[in-house]
Amino acid sequence: MHHALHSPRRSASVVLALVLAATVAAALAVGASARASRSNHRSKSRSHSVQKVVHGAGVLSITSQPWGTVPAHPPLNQALPASLYTLSNAHQMTVKITNYGGVVQSIWVPDRRGHVKDVALGFPDLQGYVTDFTNPPAGGSGDTYFGAIIGRYANRIANGKFALDGTVYTLPQNNGPNTLHGGPDAYNTQVWNATPSAGPHSVSLKLTYTDPDGYNGFPGQVSNVVTYTLTQDNALHIDYSATTTKSTVINLTNHTYFNLAGEGSGDVFGQLLQINADSFTPTNANLIPTGQIVPVAGTPFDFRTLKPIGRDIHSAGAPEGNQLVLAHGFDHNWVLNGSGMKLAAVAEDPSSGRVLSTYTTEPGVQFYSGNFLVGDLVGPSGNTYRQSDGFTLETQHYPDSPNESTFPTTRLDPGQTFTSSTIYKFATAGGGHGHGH
Ligand code: GAL
Repeated sequence: MHHALHSPRRSASVVLALVLAATVAAALAVGASARASRSNHRSKSRSHSVQKVVHGAGVLSITSQPWGTVPAHPPLNQALPASLYTLSNAHQMTVKITNYGGVVQSIWVPDRRGHVKDVALGFPDLQGYVTDFTNPPAGGSGDTYFGAIIGRYANRIANGKFALDGTVYTLPQNNGPNTLHGGPDAYNTQVWNATPSAGPHSVSLKLTYTDPDGYNGFPGQVSNVVTYTLTQDNALHIDYSATTTKSTVINLTNHTYFNLAGEGSGDVFGQLLQINADSFTPTNANLIPTGQIVPVAGTPFDFRTLKPIGRDIHSAGAPEGNQLVLAHGFDHNWVLNGSGMKLAAVAEDPSSGRVLSTYTTEPGVQFYSGNFLVGDLVGPSGNTYRQSDGFTLETQHYPDSPNESTFPTTRLDPGQTFTSSTIYKFATAGGGHGHGH
């Protein structure tokens, strides 16, 4: 049930090519693909076995292992097996991704001394995600969306309503009066079809999911492809594309929470952040943008140069008003400078030297400082997650764009293809020698 994929040998006579030829025998051990499993879930899940691939030090690889069964829930209402895929490169970076919600379960990267830690918040097992995403206990952290693909509409749509071409669409309200992250049982809870592959300089996991016409109130059947790629330069690329059968709205993102000192190591207040944005979109009390685009200058929202995440997070008042009170911290969309693929943010942990640079084709980024984490969830480290123990950089279109005609449009029509790319690239800042990004 498994096969090995060997990258093509390169004939170029440069040293790099020789190194690659010697090391890039990307091994692939794939259990039954989710697609195959859908047709015969019971027997396939029994035939799954943990596939370990033996390979030389430093090779690119992608392997898979069975990761339990996702209980039946809408829209398929069918129990399905999930897998956990492990992508590794020659520079100490490993990313584990499950096809349940396309969740990035862990990201292992070295610090400036070569010590590897997991810098993504998450759960040790599938059950943790299923409970959190579909049935979070009352009074706890709620649905965290840890690591997941978010769709069909990432972030909030006010009052669960929008209009297209004169037709009003009504969506389930799963966040006060709003629809958040596509509504209940959205992309983050689905079992995606998964196809691993290996190339000479990267390994990829291609995930596909078809969102039915009318599901959660959205018009049109949307076919989604999300490809995660780990490259040799310690970057995780996320490439999204989508098509629709009827005019609809779309906004896709990934919801990984980062803690560059390691998940479960405490708060991120001392970690530095720079956001490449001169303005942001303030919100009302329901975290819906007011429609204004406000300069960050002179406010706690000014991350134009690296500053500690915690420096201004307790600021309650003028000149930006009570924004940090309404959101319990940072939970806002920054309007990114520039267009096309551009730097969105740089984060750095001064103690470990780990640096994360985020690039995106999207016009905005939601920087969320983990405000709703209340210490009831336990990560793979065995430690709990409390408020501000991680932060997200959700690259996306602005919240509530379907109801704000002045924001960049999130409309997708039949015949068009939505595309979007984000890169999370890791490096280390060498002590005293400037930044390695
Ligand atoms: C964020 C959102 C927050 C919160 C979080 C999940 O994307 O902006 O308000 O809902 O997801 O807990």
